[in-house]
Amino acid sequence: MPSAARRPLISGNWKMNHNHFEAIQSVQKLSYLLDKDELAAVEVSVHPPFTDLRSVQTVLESDHIDIALGAQHCHFADKGAFTGEVSPLMLAKLNVRYVIVGHSERREVFGEGDELVNKKLLAIVRAGMLPILCVGETLAEREAGTTGRKVDRQVRAGLAGLSPEQVATAVVAYEPIWAIGTGRTATAADAQEVCVLVRSVVKELAGADAAAAVRIQYGGSVTPDNVVGLMAEPDIDGALVGGASLDADSFAAIATYGQRGAD
Ligand code: 13P
Repeated sequence: MPSAARRPLISGNWKMNHNHFEAIQSVQKLSYLLDKDELAAVEVSVHPPFTDLRSVQTVLESDHIDIALGAQHCHFADKGAFTGEVSPLMLAKLNVRYVIVGHSERREVFGEGDELVNKKLLAIVRAGMLPILCVGETLAEREAGTTGRKVDRQVRAGLAGLSPEQVATAVVAYEPIWAIGTGRTATAADAQEVCVLVRSVVKELAGADAAAAVRIQYGGSVTPDNVVGLMAEPDIDGALVGGASLDADSFAAIATYGQRGAD
């Protein structure tokens, strides 16, 4: 189990799925499936596409649902001539709490490098939101034995410029790229090993208090079945869930570590 000082965070990254009607249905079903005690023990966030954010915000707030609103991405500027982009201030205005930054799909498909990821992360924090910084290696890097080197670099570059207090409230998600959407999960022991490395890098960067407080998620084919083993590891403080978060039943089962059945 993660340290009692760190409240686990289970996040659903919906990627480019669910229109705003489907999004509303999904959070309403989720709130029906998860009771108050469950939502007190574990923090749950949902990260819908931009077009759904306002609708989901309205449902969460009007029905007093204790699920945090998250975004998947943003620009680093407050405003300006950036066609198609959305600014951190716009997200903050919708009471977005968490913003995913540096997801491997943004890095690999849209060419976002460490420097840009860091600029966005700093802008997210400046706007009063909490970043979920994604890091992780490709299969080739894992096989070449360079996982540690890559994750070390991504954590240092991503968190650069934050104060120790800001690092303490940030979230890092270890998502091995080969495990995303493939049905292949890292073993709990392998995931734990990399999460220990992330925490040790955070300690070097920001000190022991920040390292003890920072939450580290695992992501990559998380399911109601494998979440139990992952969450039993001391340095895994939550999960960043893609495919299995689209179905409210399976996401509720993950958020309760499999205690609530997936159907
Ligand atoms: P899957 O859970 O579909 O493998 O996706 C993981 C992910 O990329 C979450 O950000």
